[in-house]
Amino acid sequence: MRKRRLVFALLLCFSTFWRIGAFKFHRAQKTERISGSAGDVLEDDPVGRLKVFVYELPSKYNKKILQKDPRCLTHMFAAEIFMHRFLLSSPVRTLNPEEADWFYTPVYATCDLTPNGLPLPFKSPRMMRSAIQLISSNWPYWNATEGADHFFIVPHDFAACFHYLEEKAIERGILPLLQRATLVQTFGQRNHVCLKDGSIIIPPYAPPQKMQAHLISPSTPRSIFVYFRGLFYDVGNDPEGGYYARGARASVWENFKDNPLFDISTEHPTTYYEDMQRAIFCLCPLGWAPWSPRLVEAVVFGCIPVIIADDIVLPFADAIPWEDIGIFVAEKDVPKLDTILTSIPIEEILRKQRVLANPSMKQAMLFPHPAQARDAFHQILNGLARKLPHDRSIYLRSGESILNWTAGPVGDLKPW
Ligand SMILES: *[C@@H]1O[C@H](CO)[C@@H](O)[C@H](O)[C@H]1NC(C)=O
Ligand SMILES: *[C@@H]1O[C@H](CO)[C@@H](O)[C@H](O)[C@H]1NC(C)=O
Repeated sequence: MRKRRLVFALLLCFSTFWRIGAFKFHRAQKTERISGSAGDVLEDDPVGRLKVFVYELPSKYNKKILQKDPRCLTHMFAAEIFMHRFLLSSPVRTLNPEEADWFYTPVYATCDLTPNGLPLPFKSPRMMRSAIQLISSNWPYWNATEGADHFFIVPHDFAACFHYLEEKAIERGILPLLQRATLVQTFGQRNHVCLKDGSIIIPPYAPPQKMQAHLISPSTPRSIFVYFRGLFYDVGNDPEGGYYARGARASVWENFKDNPLFDISTEHPTTYYEDMQRAIFCLCPLGWAPWSPRLVEAVVFGCIPVIIADDIVLPFADAIPWEDIGIFVAEKDVPKLDTILTSIPIEEILRKQRVLANPSMKQAMLFPHPAQARDAFHQILNGLARKLPHDRSIYLRSGESILNWTAGPVGDLKPW
């Protein structure tokens, strides 16, 4: 608390520039329409633009798994469950597979949690193979394209590479059977084997009701300059340091722990969501993956995300004008973060806050239940609709086969 007051005092005694800043940094009252085509894309209604057939699978692929561990409903990969529920009652769903543009296989591949709640993807490859085997023998549609008109939700850290350690994930690569499918995933990094062309990058799941419950008055001044709560080091998994977050988080701590403009700590306060609404900038550095739920929280709470993750591919990047909302800082420039942030012109900060205040931005980051227009479910559908019509070349001749059913680690070939 004392630290925060100190920051506010500092903001006030900076130059006139900053004094104006301290008064103006109220949560933007006005919102700004998003310029260009991006805004219009976010407002698109997918209904009428695509039809999705949902395969009926035995409940051991989805509902039974969830019954075993209801924590899967609240962790950051819960989109795989909510998207299934959403599609079952969505007007884009068709019960006639002959008229479907897209086929969806509801497998909860990320719902296998350790006692501490960490999702382990070790069974996922076998589960996916088993589900694909099932749909390909019971319906003709998989064989017709070997998955090129099928989409899968694979929200785990390294998506369909199905390993939580990056080097192992890279070694594994995308599960061979999924190499023609469209993958809907949180993992987004350019030139990475676990992200292929045509994938749809989505935000991680952050609980909408809980966030809603912590909203504070929009007129609350933003008196915190830079805010961050989370790990700087992961001593357990990276004892020597430098590997976790490629050293970027460690660098934030080492350079700015004593800087009064930086309200940073590993302690997670109960006022975490409120604090983000009192902050101008929220740091969103990479961790083990390039993204974290902070990105969603920053957007929802109108705190300008400072994205530190080289080569990140952001959620719905073809629809959300991330350059207008956030600040991008190269990992190597973390030691200059203070100078970078204090030299951003105030008009630019205010403009970013106005774009952030646009409800379409927040809506696109969330998976609310019940679903709402323009939410993340709808953005996924919009992304799928934009990939239509399918190129004729995806359809295989009868008997033609491209995928190799026995490729991949032998362990994956065991039945599930
Ligand atoms: C699809 O192909 C596989 C192997 O190539 C075959 O075993 C299966 O019966 C085919 N499915 C249908 C529905 O014909
Ligand atoms: C499929 O993959 C297996 C394992 O890598 C390999 O032994 C086999 O030759 C491949 N089959 C074809 C047709 O390429």
